[in-house]
Amino acid sequence: MPAMLAACAEAHPNIALIKYWGNRDHRINLPANSSISFNLDGLVTRTLVVFDPHLNQDRLVINGRERYREPLKRVQRILAWVREHSGKYLYAHVISVNNFPMEAGIASSASAFAALALAATKAAGMHLDERALSRLARLGSGSACRSVPDGFVEWRAGVRDEDSYAFTLFPPEYWDLWDCIAVVSAASKPYSSKEGHRFAETSPIQWARVTDAPRRLEWCRQALKNRDFQALAEVVELDAHLLHAVMQTSTPSLLYWEPATVALMHQVREWRKQGWNVAYTLDAGPNVHILCTSDFAMRVEQELQARPDVQQVLTARPGKGARLVPLDLCRDLFRQGNLPLPTDLL
Ligand code: DP6
Repeated sequence: MPAMLAACAEAHPNIALIKYWGNRDHRINLPANSSISFNLDGLVTRTLVVFDPHLNQDRLVINGRERYREPLKRVQRILAWVREHSGKYLYAHVISVNNFPMEAGIASSASAFAALALAATKAAGMHLDERALSRLARLGSGSACRSVPDGFVEWRAGVRDEDSYAFTLFPPEYWDLWDCIAVVSAASKPYSSKEGHRFAETSPIQWARVTDAPRRLEWCRQALKNRDFQALAEVVELDAHLLHAVMQTSTPSLLYWEPATVALMHQVREWRKQGWNVAYTLDAGPNVHILCTSDFAMRVEQELQARPDVQQVLTARPGKGARLVPLDLCRDLFRQGNLPLPTDLL
């Protein structure tokens, strides 16, 4: 019997400290500016890919549900690349689970495409190095390239496909920062990030955000290097406000903030005045990511849990990059995809 063309991988989403918004080339997610993030270890996507000669089309199952149209199309972009470069022209089952609620508005595309890029290339018998894997993940979702390397990561924008990839700045243990995510609204977004990246260039201040990015990137690298929380807080909040200023002034105008979002931003600043090491950042949604040093994590988590305007609190620390998972730990994924277990796992 031929070896089974199957592999499983997992990856974390990441939170950007310096944000990616807008592309130089939308086709290949070549970003307008470099960005910096860290992987969120508490949240994870696990993905099984099985290339199957009996299939006559690709299949995508997320959290036990078959998916079609847009999500499947995005996955097929990665599968098409893998088929072309491996010579294995077979359709695939892609079975994926998240341990965090997708409906809570926490971006799962970064962890999803990082795990998919690794699982799909391995299943097809390919061995990509970290840089090549990061570039491949980028084709699915820009920020996914940052979920491939470990820890604190920089995505160098580059000017063409070959030089736009992410790499580790510092390992996860370098600084025990926490991200306490306050979920304030689970309502689905009127526009996806994919659409938002296209609107960015209609904002009259996108050029200012992008032109100033090298200064903020260096400020952030230094703050991380020196584990200087005050400097990090300043640059992270400045960058998040620049991102939302661009969103709010683009056409159409994207206003993600809810009353609870603004209330939490004020609260974080108040805590900082009282000497707490806390700072906030926001992605393309109303939820507030509250970054803090480990000595404040419990207090922040408890305060957030006690608030009526916070629906849920998720916490994470700097995590590793994308990695393979042995198939014998993926029996539940085979089951979810109604796939027979490989003979050596029976
Ligand atoms: C606001 O990479 O998620 O979170 O390429 O459409 O998947 P797609 O967009 P994505 O955009 C991320 C935008 C952001 C900022 C960031 O994470 O840097």
